[in-house]
Amino acid sequence: MTFTNTHSSFSGRRLLITGGAGFIGSNFVHHWMQLYPQDRIVVLDALTYAGNHSSLVSLEAQPNFQFVQGDICDRPLIEHLLQEEMIDTVAHFAAESHVDRSILGPETFVQTNVVGTFTLLEAVRQCWSQGQPSAKFSDHYRFLHVSTDEVFGSLGPEDPAFCETTPYAPNSPYSASKAGSDHLVRAYYHTYGLPTLITNCSNNYGPYHFPEKLIPLMCINILLGKPLPIYGDGQNIRDWLYVKDHCRALDLVIRKGVPGETYTVGGNNEVKNLDLIHALCDLMDEMVPDLPVYPSRNLITFVKDRPGHDRRYAIDATKLKTELGWSPTVNVQEGLRQTIEWYLENQQWWKPLLSEEYQTYYQQVYDNSSYTALS
Ligand code: NAD
Ligand code: TYD
Repeated sequence: MTFTNTHSSFSGRRLLITGGAGFIGSNFVHHWMQLYPQDRIVVLDALTYAGNHSSLVSLEAQPNFQFVQGDICDRPLIEHLLQEEMIDTVAHFAAESHVDRSILGPETFVQTNVVGTFTLLEAVRQCWSQGQPSAKFSDHYRFLHVSTDEVFGSLGPEDPAFCETTPYAPNSPYSASKAGSDHLVRAYYHTYGLPTLITNCSNNYGPYHFPEKLIPLMCINILLGKPLPIYGDGQNIRDWLYVKDHCRALDLVIRKGVPGETYTVGGNNEVKNLDLIHALCDLMDEMVPDLPVYPSRNLITFVKDRPGHDRRYAIDATKLKTELGWSPTVNVQEGLRQTIEWYLENQQWWKPLLSEEYQTYYQQVYDNSSYTALS
């Protein structure tokens, strides 16, 4: 294994970003590269179906950036990277992240999210306890675990929003595997003193989002004139956060968060799925001339519900606001507009993703399984 070794050239933090070719990870890499050019960034990503090297290609020429294709379950590789790059900050995004895929095949979720996080923690613990990186950096050594609000389960209509003290009650194989990884990260702080931080965030949307998730899927289906499948009655609620606001929150948590603490992150944007899709359709009708089907609301198709579909998520981000001074800046209407603009301007990014594997997945979810259209 050879990497460009640049130990001495950078004066700031030295970050290992796992899953940096995925949706939130790539947005975070761009955020950090723009704000902290003195820092070194190493991205470790297995480039699964959800990882996209082209999301980072514009950074390849930067001397403080290194992309490594590899698996978080590969402990020798991780140890090598931690030592060789003198990493002092791990931002852990790598995961299997889609609920529908976890219903179709939960095994990879346990492997990557639980075993992978464990492997990463063990490698980090070993390097950290041996005094690596150098003492110079040890006071700001951090392990940030990026997690989800789905670990808390489902809220009723009148329940208070999730916060840091909400008990865990995961309902899908995805959220259960993320809950398992959260518990391991917590245990490494309490048992070994590893300076870990956990964030539990609500649904993100924005650029570089793989088109299996609700917003990019609907955006692309409208452009292609394909049906817009709404699970169940469309009254499920999600608290939508524009991905760039999430990146700002993660930045603050790394730099100013208290080790051992968890932070809930949310957009204060609770919206019913059907209302969200109506808003998206109306914006697409306004922004895109000559859509194949107009008005695009005509494409809405109610399909059988997702098994175990959580009814409502909502986040109370008071702790992040009062302790670290964060609040979201982009509301849903503005965020949707920016997202649509991005998907219109970056068709070369998403068109290759509609591959054979994608079509097979799509068929499994929407045609052959319990998700069959109701009409
Ligand atoms: P994503 O699926 O878009 O990206 C995941 C990335 O991890 C991909 O680049 C993939 O190639 C990589 N990866 C998968 N398995 C790997 C392995 N074994 N080794 C190395 N890399 C591997 O996910 P995302 O939406 O960007 O989510 C990132 C993190 O944020 C996840 O941990 C997820 O649980 C969490 N999260 C997501 C949301 C959301 O709305 N998307 C909300 C809250 C939290
Ligand atoms: P998704 O983007 O998969 O995120 P999550 O399940 O992690 O919240 O789904 C967001 C919401 O949209 C969720 O309530 C499920 C619903 N949904 C649909 O109604 N149709 C779809 O085709 C998809 C992908 C999701």
